[in-house]
Amino acid sequence: MTHSVLFVCLGNICRSPLAEGIFRAHVLERGLAEHFRIDSAGTGSWHAGNPPDPRSVEVAARHGIDISGQRARQVTAEDFGTYDTILAMDRSNLTTLEDRAGSRARNRLRLFLADPAMDVPDPYYGGPGGFDEVFRLIQEGSEKLLDALAHRKPAS
Ligand code: 4NP
Repeated sequence: MTHSVLFVCLGNICRSPLAEGIFRAHVLERGLAEHFRIDSAGTGSWHAGNPPDPRSVEVAARHGIDISGQRARQVTAEDFGTYDTILAMDRSNLTTLEDRAGSRARNRLRLFLADPAMDVPDPYYGGPGGFDEVFRLIQEGSEKLLDALAHRKPAS
């Protein structure tokens, strides 16, 4: 039984690569790796093929997580069938996903920070401090997400 989880932001170079790396680290820590398929993608295609933003690579490395091998890609139509949990990092990207997903896939879409519902702010045009805040928010959200999924059967 495998949970398949896709993290989605706009560019797939700042927030969702961090979410992928942090969530994978939490899954590994708990010895649950064989139960999870994890990836990230962007609603936009501008950065496809690129490594994560150096500021995301740096903040992750400071916390012992290596995300430098990731490469950005755009969300595809197949993703809506492949991933049973698709998590948008903010409401804007959630709306984009809702527009693109067929009605059958809408129930797979969620805001990543659900309780309380809030956006992980886009740090791209801000200073490096924004990445520390993004890391903190994602770390908290990732723990809650894993707690929720580890107790739930995957969608069939
Ligand atoms: P991300 O951040 O969605 O967290 O990867 C962004 C990256 C690039 C751009 C915007 C946000 N951009 O406009 O190129």
